[in-house]
Amino acid sequence: MELTLTRPDDWHLHLRDGARMAAVLPHTARRFARAVVMPNLDPPLTTVDAVLAYRARILAALPPGAAFEPLMTLYLTDETAPEEIRRARASGRVLGAKLYPAGATTHSSAGVRDIERILPALAALEEHGLVLSVHGEVTDPAVDVFERERVFIERVLAPLHERFPALALVLEHVTTREGVAFVREAPGRVAATVTAHHLLLNRNALFDGGLRPHHHCLPVLKRESHRRALIEAATGGDPRFFLGTDSAPHPRAVKESARGCAGIFTAHAALELYAEVFEAAGALDRLEAFASFHGADFYGLARNTGTLTLGREPWKVPPDYPFGSGRVVALRAGETVSWRLRGPERAPT
Ligand code: DOR
Ligand code: ZN
Repeated sequence: MELTLTRPDDWHLHLRDGARMAAVLPHTARRFARAVVMPNLDPPLTTVDAVLAYRARILAALPPGAAFEPLMTLYLTDETAPEEIRRARASGRVLGAKLYPAGATTHSSAGVRDIERILPALAALEEHGLVLSVHGEVTDPAVDVFERERVFIERVLAPLHERFPALALVLEHVTTREGVAFVREAPGRVAATVTAHHLLLNRNALFDGGLRPHHHCLPVLKRESHRRALIEAATGGDPRFFLGTDSAPHPRAVKESARGCAGIFTAHAALELYAEVFEAAGALDRLEAFASFHGADFYGLARNTGTLTLGREPWKVPPDYPFGSGRVVALRAGETVSWRLRGPERAPT
């Protein structure tokens, strides 16, 4: 069996930088025409100049002949000036800004400490029609780690949306039924990206036969009833939900340590993993809209024109892949993925 769809986009991706970026970028460029590349480098990309320089490094690292467009986003801090947002808009290359609550995840220490301080930047985003991408978790240590998304929606996101009703919002990597409900019910331009790993795994995967660092990501995996809600949202045809892998590679040694860091690498089989989810839900006919239409429509960009074909052909994921001077362990390492990418090594233009 084969499945051909319009070439998809990844609306949430971590590419890192330098030799590590060069190692993981081909996985994404083979499958996706475009990707929204996250700005949480070290140091983070807090100015439009830094974002555009990173974009140029991505383009320079592409395999020859690859047709891939990085879509950029600015890292918000308490200090981001409305003028920087205006510059982002004027560049024509930056889709919006990313709100990381300070300390919520990898390289977020420079993120937002006080929402009150970013109100001018949010107003500028709204005014210029740019998108606010949100890592939706509170960092309050008193809040249970599995409740941080739900509490963030109550305490931060819902009030923010009320205050800026015309601001386009993406709740990135939604993981809970409360997140899904917020997106479904919010008036205006509100959407969510959904990762393959949150669709495929529940929190049992963190402890399956021992502590499993390669299943650790943020927001952390949730219980099965939340995974069910995500599957319904992603496969149900609602245009407010679209593909965002949050593929987040880290060196093997950094994952397999006493404080294994958060991030799951899925770029090696990104679309194939989503195909498994849609097949299991009996919704393969809806994969194309989720992967190739809803995100472009939300961001007001043209849909892609080329196609990509997957075959129903199980293959075994290698134990790890090159990652700069180290290796990265991908989701399903040493195990099977049931769909395989067809066609040339690189996607056609
Ligand atoms: O698991 C994650 N990894 N979640 C994030 O929010 C950041 C990402 C990373 O950059 O490693
Ligand atoms: Zn991310």
